[in-house]
Amino acid sequence: MSEVTAKKLSETVGAEVLGVDQDRILSDEALPAWCLKTLEENGVLVFRELNIDDETQRAFSQKLNEADGAPSGEAPPIYRITLDPNLNASAEYLKGAFLWHIDGATDDVPSKATLLSAHVLSATGGETEFASCYAAYDDLSDEEKERYGQLRVIHSFEHAQLLAKPDATDEERAFWRQRTPEKAHPLVWHHHTGRCSLVLGATASHVEGMDREEGEALLVELLERSTRPERVYVHEWSMGDLVIWDNRGVLHRAAPYDPASGRDMHRTSLIGDEPIQ
Ligand code: OGA
Ligand code: MN
Repeated sequence: MSEVTAKKLSETVGAEVLGVDQDRILSDEALPAWCLKTLEENGVLVFRELNIDDETQRAFSQKLNEADGAPSGEAPPIYRITLDPNLNASAEYLKGAFLWHIDGATDDVPSKATLLSAHVLSATGGETEFASCYAAYDDLSDEEKERYGQLRVIHSFEHAQLLAKPDATDEERAFWRQRTPEKAHPLVWHHHTGRCSLVLGATASHVEGMDREEGEALLVELLERSTRPERVYVHEWSMGDLVIWDNRGVLHRAAPYDPASGRDMHRTSLIGDEPIQ
């Protein structure tokens, strides 16, 4: 078989995978471990116009879980990423995806990686943008690394939803708080690989023990530095593209698109393997 290769898509994040097709994605037994290693190195993997069906995406996700040492179990389910409430009853919450975030930031153990495949595209907008939180950490000065290494950040679903819907009623806010309780995480995630990343995004509300406004301003500044345009890979989707991102070390967001466009992406998540610590 020809070699599978990765071609970098930007300086700090993203690589295109070349040499994989619909058959090889499941038949090449060496591919899952290769993908995990290449994902660790690049943060995002792009398989252009792979056009796999849901069962193949689920089976490949399961192989990635197993290659990562997770016990073999059920293949993960498909979650529909669409603003059409007929296709996803929680579509309203997905408006939060227009803001930089990591998936499951209020969980104890966020998912390890996310696989997203394109089934219906919007005629305009709807690109997905990625920025490396490893690069964001590496960019800090030694003094900042020292100082920020001590901080803990409160992550809240309410905070993220409020950014997407600033005119929410008190009832909505109370519902969001009760639906998903807030969670404190260290600002710096020390991974078992030895690398460090910043934990930021729309859920990051304020800094524990710091003046509220000062903490908010720090989080805004760090997010802004981490996602400067030259540090971002923008994925312009074609039908059938599969994109995988390292959800522990990469921020992502969707560029705005028309909710009536029918845009429909199919997502699977890999089992998280490390708490934020
Ligand atoms: C997600 C997500 C962005 C997009 O699936 O978690 O944030 O572009 N998707 O749909
Ligand atoms: Mn997301």
